[in-house]
Amino acid sequence: MTPSTPRKPKLLVVDDQAFNIQILYQIFKGDYEVFMATSGAQALTLCADQSPDLILLDVVMPDMDGHEVCRRLKADPHARDIPVIFVTGHNNSEEESLGLQLGAVDFISKPVNATVVRARVHSQLMLRETLRQVQELNETLEQRVAQRTAELERALENLKQSQDNLANSEAKATLSTLFASVSHELGTPLGNSKMVASAMAEQTLSMAQDMENGQLKRSALSAFMEQLNDGLALLQRNLERAVELLGDFRQVAADQASEQRRVFDLKLVVQEILHTLSPSLKHKPHQIVVEIADELMMDSQPGPLGQIVINLVNNAYLHAFEGRSNGVLTISARIDGDQVQMCVADNGVGMSPEVKEKLFEPFFSTKIGKGGTGLGMAIVRNLVTKTLGGRISVVSKVGEGTRVDIVLPRVLPG
Ligand SMILES: Nc1ncnc2c1ncn2[C@@H]1O[C@H](COP(=O)(O)OP(=O)(O)OP(=O)(O)O)[C@@H](O)[C@H]1O
Ligand SMILES: [Mg+2]
Repeated sequence: MTPSTPRKPKLLVVDDQAFNIQILYQIFKGDYEVFMATSGAQALTLCADQSPDLILLDVVMPDMDGHEVCRRLKADPHARDIPVIFVTGHNNSEEESLGLQLGAVDFISKPVNATVVRARVHSQLMLRETLRQVQELNETLEQRVAQRTAELERALENLKQSQDNLANSEAKATLSTLFASVSHELGTPLGNSKMVASAMAEQTLSMAQDMENGQLKRSALSAFMEQLNDGLALLQRNLERAVELLGDFRQVAADQASEQRRVFDLKLVVQEILHTLSPSLKHKPHQIVVEIADELMMDSQPGPLGQIVINLVNNAYLHAFEGRSNGVLTISARIDGDQVQMCVADNGVGMSPEVKEKLFEPFFSTKIGKGGTGLGMAIVRNLVTKTLGGRISVVSKVGEGTRVDIVLPRVLPG
């Protein structure tokens, strides 16, 4: 809407009696720009020149009376919308109805009462202004609807994009954690095995040389046998460890890669996940306590459950235990009817009410640019509520740690 113009409204007063014009002029001169005509012809000319906002029109005039002036005005496309108020000497209903038929908006009887005439003119102008605004609104409505629709479409597109981002970063986070874990964790047992194998190869070589030179003593042989035994035991232990780790990783990877449901042991799944995380966690002085009963079986999707645990553990280590050396993260779970109540609680720094309020918002992070993307908890909430059909709530206070409560159906419906 255009701002209302500061100019005074223009009023055209038409009367063949100078005295009447004077009275009306006195009444309106303060608030209006008043133009005066003493004949119908003059009124039409002034109207074409000045485009008044309203006309006060005397009915009885020589040559061209008020009715004729009004008829002509209504026939002129430029003037037909200007409201006309007849100022009439008689209280004559026939005359009034003729005036109305001609398109007048109101009547005022002479002698005019200043308050009445002012109020009527004012209300007609208000009406006209309101009509003009409504018309303008109508004209711009279509355009505004189109604009708003475009805005909404853009917002929807953004939303879809962030959903894709979310899904992408979920997959990437899990994959990169897995890769890092597999290579790091397998490095130790395989490195040990390689060392043992090459030490044994060296000893075997020197034994073979002694044997060729006929210098092989019985005592040396039994010492060699002993070393060989120890070496083999070490080798076996390390290789078993590697196989065991691979098994865990394979299970976690399979769970992550598929969104398959299966019957699983909650404690084992949590331990497997902690295992895959251990390379990045074990050089930190904190402790993770798992309090889950053996053989707490669920029929659900272990992959998403693992991602939830990964994100919560990462948050505890990254945020809750920052600058601390005595962090304890407790992961507990118990059965409650058809549901499993999980609780992941840390004794870390806790959250301010402001942080807690935004916790689940995508891209909210207090570590933007320092390793945080702010997607972790948004993903967690998505997985809990959408994928696993559960509920999540958080209790946290600055200095008193954070507790995340998750309630999941023990058997995923559907
Ligand atoms: N256990 C916690 N203790 C204290 N603050 C936390 C904890 N978990 C989350 N927060 C706060 O909530 C914010 C949002 O967490 P979220 O996991 O969504 O993002 P992030 O960890 O910063 O980044 P990302 O997980 O995407 O790498 C964090 O930046 C942190 O300020
Ligand atoms: Mg996080």
